[in-house]
Amino acid sequence: MGDLGVNALWAVIGLPVSLISLLYFALSRRKNVVLQDKVVFITGASSGLGEACAEAFHFCGCKVILAGRNEHKLVELKNRLDSKKLCHQHSPVVCVLDLEDDCIDDKVRLAIASIWGRIDILINNAGMSYRGAVSETKSDVDMKLMVVNHLGHIKITKAILPFMVEQKSGHIVCISSVQGRMAIPHRSAYAASKHAMQAYFDSLRAEVEHYGINVCVVSPYYIRTNLSLNALSADGSTHGKHDQTTLNGYDPHFVAQKIVNCVQRRCDELILAPFYVKLAICLRVLAPWLYFKIMARRAKKELSANDKHK
Ligand SMILES: NC(=O)c1ccc[n+]([C@@H]2O[C@H](COP(=O)([O-])OP(=O)(O)OC[C@H]3O[C@@H](n4cnc5c(N)ncnc54)[C@H](OP(=O)(O)O)[C@@H]3O)[C@@H](O)[C@H]2O)c1
Repeated sequence: MGDLGVNALWAVIGLPVSLISLLYFALSRRKNVVLQDKVVFITGASSGLGEACAEAFHFCGCKVILAGRNEHKLVELKNRLDSKKLCHQHSPVVCVLDLEDDCIDDKVRLAIASIWGRIDILINNAGMSYRGAVSETKSDVDMKLMVVNHLGHIKITKAILPFMVEQKSGHIVCISSVQGRMAIPHRSAYAASKHAMQAYFDSLRAEVEHYGINVCVVSPYYIRTNLSLNALSADGSTHGKHDQTTLNGYDPHFVAQKIVNCVQRRCDELILAPFYVKLAICLRVLAPWLYFKIMARRAKKELSANDKHK
C-alpha cells in the first residue's frame, strides 16, 4: 500500500475513533481527586512553570516538596508561600537536588521517607532547552539534554514508584512539550529528549494502571518563562536571550492550573497548544511527507536568517 493509501486509511479510522473517544469521555464520570493534604514532589520548582505549579498545589492545600538545584530561590519561594498561608495550607519543604547527580534516586527516596513518609503526586517538570544545528552540536550537549530532560526523571520516578505501589495510588505528571510530539529543526536534542519522555511514560502508564497509579504527559506550546534564556547552544554555552515565541507564550499560572485539573480528573495526557499546532501534530502522523517539506523550508529560512545576523 502506498503512502497515500496509508494516509487515507488513517483518515477513515481516525474519525470514528475520535467520535468513540468523545462519547467515552462524555459518559465516563470519574470522581475528581481531592487535593487537600496530598503530598506533591515538584522538580524545577525554583522558577517558571515549576514555581507556578508549587503555588497552585499549595493553594489547593497540598503538602508541597520544592525540589531543585537553587536552594536560595527555593527557600525564597517557601517563605513567600508561608507568608500567604491560610488555615488549610501546609508549609512547603525544600529539597535540594540536581538531575545530573548520579545518586539522585537515593536522595529522593530518603527525602520522601523522611519528610511526610509518602508521596501522592510527582511532577517531573525540571528541564532545559537547546538551540543549534546537529552538525555543530557537541555530544556533551546532546547528553546533558537527555539526562536533565529524560534520564534524571526516570531515576526520580523509579525512586518514588515503590511508595505509590505500596499505597496503591498516585499520580505521575511529566512536563513534556509539543516538541515531544513533532520535531522541529535546530531543536534536535530537546525534541529527542521530550520524545523519549513521551514514549517511556506511555509504557509506564500501562504498567502501573492496575496499582491505581495515573500517568499524565503534558505537552505545552510556548510558556512565558526563562526556558530560552537558560537554553544551551550547540557549543554548550547559554543561549542567554528571551525568544519572542517564549515571550508571547502562555502564562505559567494558566498552565499550572491546567496541570492541577489534569491531576484532579486523572487525565492521561494534555496537549496545550493552539489549533494550528495540534493540526501540525496530526499532519506529522497523517501526511508525514508534507510535514517534512514544511520543516525543511523552515530550516532553510532559519539558516538564512542566522547568516544575515552574522
Ligand atoms: N517555557 C516553554 O516555552 C516550555 C514549553 C513547553 C514545555 N516546557 C517545559 O516546562 C518545563 C519547565 O520549564 P520552564 O519553562 O519553567 O523553564 P525555566 O524557568 O528555565 O525552569 C526550568 C527549571 O528546571 C530546573 N533545572 C534545570 N536543570 C536542572 C538540573 N540539572 N537539576 C535540577 N533542576 C534543573 C531549573 O532550576 P535552576 O533554577 O536550578 O536552573 C528550573 O527550576 C521544562 O521541562 C520545559 O521543557 C517549557
